[in-house]
Amino acid sequence: MIKRPRRLRVTETVRNMIAETRLSEDMFIYPYFVKPGKNIQEEIEAMPGIHRFSIDNLIKDVEKGLKAGVNKVLLFGVGENKSADASSAFHPHSVAADSVRELKKQFGADLHVTTDICLCAYTTHGHCGILKDDYVLNDPTLEVLAQMALAHAEAGADMVAPSDMMDGRVLAIRSALDSEGFVNTALMSYATKFASAYYGPFREAAGSAPGKGDRKSYQMDFRNPREALREARLDEAEGADIIMVKPALAYLDIIRLVRKNTTLPVACYNVSAEYSMVKAAAQSGYIDEQRIVMENMYAFARAGAGIIITYHARDIMENKWL
Ligand code: PBG
Ligand code: ZN
Repeated sequence: MIKRPRRLRVTETVRNMIAETRLSEDMFIYPYFVKPGKNIQEEIEAMPGIHRFSIDNLIKDVEKGLKAGVNKVLLFGVGENKSADASSAFHPHSVAADSVRELKKQFGADLHVTTDICLCAYTTHGHCGILKDDYVLNDPTLEVLAQMALAHAEAGADMVAPSDMMDGRVLAIRSALDSEGFVNTALMSYATKFASAYYGPFREAAGSAPGKGDRKSYQMDFRNPREALREARLDEAEGADIIMVKPALAYLDIIRLVRKNTTLPVACYNVSAEYSMVKAAAQSGYIDEQRIVMENMYAFARAGAGIIITYHARDIMENKWL
């Protein structure tokens, strides 16, 4: 026997030397939920360790995170005046826009701020666009999304991330940003976003569950990898800077597929229920949280994600799991 793969597994040093997949702090984005008010920090029941903050407490928490290396955040505004036309989504002083302004004032370029662009937290019916006869209208929604992105860019967002899954929204948002001079506001598209039960805890967190029906007429069918590739290609052609795949764990094949078919950076979103399941099992003592979390993170990287959006980012960095 001359071939002995075990030779390169003898010590941790040699194992680290030949490791084919590496993770770094630079890859992680940490999501935040922000609501109007003062001195609020309420834990989301299904997501232990994740909270809804008012802006004052958001600033304090981000400051703590920054010390541990969490320097990229994704903001979701919650709990604002809902209406059929989602007009609070693009208010210049929405809680999302004000959060961006305040974060940029406090931390400047030390903190990279992305905002989620979608209407579901702002519509009375909880759908991601303008509703008519139980159908989410595509083209009228684009205008509102573009205005929302513009409001966030004006507040100083480094990047906007449309998660609504309307056709043509990347081009609509890019055009609106460019025409107002925000040529350097980056756009990360939730390009292949599947209609998934894994968003359950998030909808509790953001108060964004559809009152009636589901999101299957706009989010993708998880049986369709080829369609996922078409979606990714469309968003690339429309000017997306980063392509995201969401959810992540049950969609590693899609991450791989997109990675192989674009030269753009590829991100994945390790979504709320993926987090909840790990936390629940860890709290029950059924699994080793650190080892499970890191195995998942390496799986995302191995599949081809260069950017990982995850609620675990804070634990990973504060506990030095990398
Ligand atoms: C809004 C949005 C959702 C998520 C991110 N942006 C929920 C949804 O589409 O219903 C899910 C994130 C998560 O589950 O962590 N459209
Ligand atoms: Zn939405």
